[in-house]
Amino acid sequence: MKEELKGRIEIIDKALESYLPCIDNPQGEIYRAMRYSLFAGGKRLRPILMTEVCSMCGGDAEAVMPFACALEMIHTYSLIHDDLPAMDNDDLRRGLPTCHIKFGEAMAILAGDALLNKAFEIVSSHDHKDPNRAMKAISLLSASSGTEGMIGGQVADLAAEGREIELDELRYIHLLKTGAIIRSACVIGAVIAGADSEEQQAVDDFAKNLGVAFQIRDDILDVTGTEEELGKPIGSDAELSKSTYASICGLERSEELVKEYSEKAKLALGIFGEKAGFLLKLTDYLTDRKS
Ligand code: IPE
Ligand code: IPE
Ligand code: MG
Ligand code: MG
Ligand code: MG
Repeated sequence: MKEELKGRIEIIDKALESYLPCIDNPQGEIYRAMRYSLFAGGKRLRPILMTEVCSMCGGDAEAVMPFACALEMIHTYSLIHDDLPAMDNDDLRRGLPTCHIKFGEAMAILAGDALLNKAFEIVSSHDHKDPNRAMKAISLLSASSGTEGMIGGQVADLAAEGREIELDELRYIHLLKTGAIIRSACVIGAVIAGADSEEQQAVDDFAKNLGVAFQIRDDILDVTGTEEELGKPIGSDAELSKSTYASICGLERSEELVKEYSEKAKLALGIFGEKAGFLLKLTDYLTDRKS
């Protein structure tokens, strides 16, 4: 799986490079800051999910690439801002000093803003083969990163800091802060491929469960992981008194829940038969991930 992912990451990195070259002009610092975080070595999970869902639904990987790159830029912006002193106040990301440590807080805020704008510039200036599908995808992209999606989840996450919350509230936070973008990654892949509503629903069910499993694993790794493997600090949640799956349910139950949600995710892909092969393998791989 590692080797298969490596090939896919190379393709995505090449496309990202073409959309965000280094420009040496008076505002060159912003390109250096954006590129620093974008090319720091993320897993590229969201673009991989999007392109794989697209090919599972019989779509063209090239048609989806602008959206895959845009989503990775939005995800990277969310990480830059998530690490800021006003938010999680972390100093390591993707194995490197965080953007604000390297470039200063003001430039990190601007780099996040600029990645968000670049994402929408890419998808709105592309010559799409099917403009109707592209419009639907742009709408999913903006909604999933906004106040009813990732940003909404980050707000709920901040509001829960320093107090004990119930599992229902934590599930809601996870569903938005992490789930929303993983869902739109998958559903955009289906939409661009021209999947019908039953297929879109199945993909959405898959992504919803995968997103929760992914964030529970992230919470577990914040306790049991190592900084070297994760490329980000461990113990960040406890330091900010954040309730997590690990703190509410304990590590053992959290492990079981990762497996339960991963199994639900895989079941949702049943209607795709053998075409779901890679995504099923990827789900198992993510269930056991260490980074
Ligand atoms: C980190 O996402 C933030 C979460 C939503 C848990 P990833 O674990 O996908 O981070 P990168 O992109 O590989 O750095
Ligand atoms: C962040 O969740 C999710 C985002 C929207 C960025 P975390 O705060 O748990 O992510 P990490 O652990 O810093 O990657
Ligand atoms: Mg956070
Ligand atoms: Mg964080
Ligand atoms: Mg975390």
